[in-house]
Amino acid sequence: MMVLRSMLYVPGNSMRMITKTASLPADAIILDLEDAVPLLDKGTARIMVRDSIKAIKLGGFHVFVRVNALTTDLTAEDLKTVVVKGLDGIMLAKTEAKAAVAELESLIGQAERAAGLEPGSLVIIPLIESAKGIINTYEIASASERVVAVAFGAGDYYRDLGRSVSSLSTEEYELLYARSHLANAGRAAGVQAIDTPFLGLLTDREAFIRQTRLALQLGFKGKQVIHPAQINFANETFSPAQGEVDYACRLVEAFAEARDKGLGAISFEGKMIDYMSYQQASDLVHFAGIITEKEAKRQAVPSTSLFQFFTPST
Ligand code: COA
Ligand code: MG
Repeated sequence: MMVLRSMLYVPGNSMRMITKTASLPADAIILDLEDAVPLLDKGTARIMVRDSIKAIKLGGFHVFVRVNALTTDLTAEDLKTVVVKGLDGIMLAKTEAKAAVAELESLIGQAERAAGLEPGSLVIIPLIESAKGIINTYEIASASERVVAVAFGAGDYYRDLGRSVSSLSTEEYELLYARSHLANAGRAAGVQAIDTPFLGLLTDREAFIRQTRLALQLGFKGKQVIHPAQINFANETFSPAQGEVDYACRLVEAFAEARDKGLGAISFEGKMIDYMSYQQASDLVHFAGIITEKEAKRQAVPSTSLFQFFTPST
């Protein structure tokens, strides 16, 4: 399972921000070729993104590129350029139906072959950001084995409803249906749900915190973020608390012992536990293990050396 607690967008035309990623604790970097990049910059951004992927990968991130929607005629060229060793997956902007995933999959397949990568190695995260996309989330999420998560894009979604983002309430009640639907559909399809980037003021820390916690409560496994200051809180929120992990470890041990004696349900620390509790607890221990390993690995990589290649010598 990919740990995607924080997925940081980095504009593909900003070498300054691309270089900055080396020192950031995000789980995933999304190099953006879509709306953060003006049309005239798309070509340059593709090259910059392609040339940065290897260095970013060395930092221990999951590396994604957000490509332009299939309706734009830019997608094939995006993929041809950026599918290189080190890339983990593609995020597809404005995904509305399962046919889009099939079309993307075929383009990715061609790009993988051209780049000499193992077929099927890249994963897909459809970005759902329209009313139609929300309705079709389950079929989109189930459209391919490559889909590991579905992500919500609230800005375009709200515009699609005919509303301006500036009119959104700070509680974001207006997004509740779409978020709940997406989290539920993702779960039904067996993939992770990743919440929208926060749309309020970058300085409104309180609202960001509230929205991130709400996403956790709704069943999301991570959040897209747009600024370094949002990463740590997303990581913390979507990590199991130490108390939960300790409890799960004890439960797993107790249940395994009981199972060896042929028991199915036992009393543990005052509560009845059964196979389902055991399964959930071992998933949690496994997930916590991945996080610990990941954080240890990141500390072992000297982040300053990653981008020497790009740093001007003067
Ligand atoms: N990725 C990497 N580094 C980032 C970053 C990002 N998304 N956002 C900011 N930084 C860096 C800045 O470069 C700066 O570092 P530096 O001074 O060493 O260069 C530092 O973090 C502090 O940034 P700050 O001055 O607070 O913000 P800013 O004005 O430079 O940038 C935004 C603000 C919103 C323009 C910027 O965060 C951004 O472009 N975010 C991503 C937008 C995006 O991709 N949108 C599409 C998806 S919704
Ligand atoms: Mg969008």
